[in-house]
Amino acid sequence: MITIIDKLGRTNDVDFNIGETLLTCIVRNNLNHGVGICGGCCDCATCHVRVNGNSLNPINEEEDATLDAYALNRYDDSRLGCQIRLTEKMDGYKFTIVNED
Ligand code: FES
Repeated sequence: MITIIDKLGRTNDVDFNIGETLLTCIVRNNLNHGVGICGGCCDCATCHVRVNGNSLNPINEEEDATLDAYALNRYDDSRLGCQIRLTEKMDGYKFTIVNED
């Protein structure tokens, strides 16, 4: 189970499938209001999240550039939900969708 804080600040504890992206999990749980506009192509930053754990795939150049270009505020723990692959180690992680509105 992971915790997703949605754009309204609501806490959602949801099950996840190992290997899916965080964006897929967000969509499957209907928490995607205004999230994932580019369809997960790493080209919009509407899936901007903050993450409270370290077991993530490393940020790649494209994700880094998209966050720089489109995120209104960027934090040390900023990532894009469409670029995070969920693994067993992330059980218990908390992801906060950044409200870019
Ligand atoms: Fe557009 Fe992730 S859905 S960058």
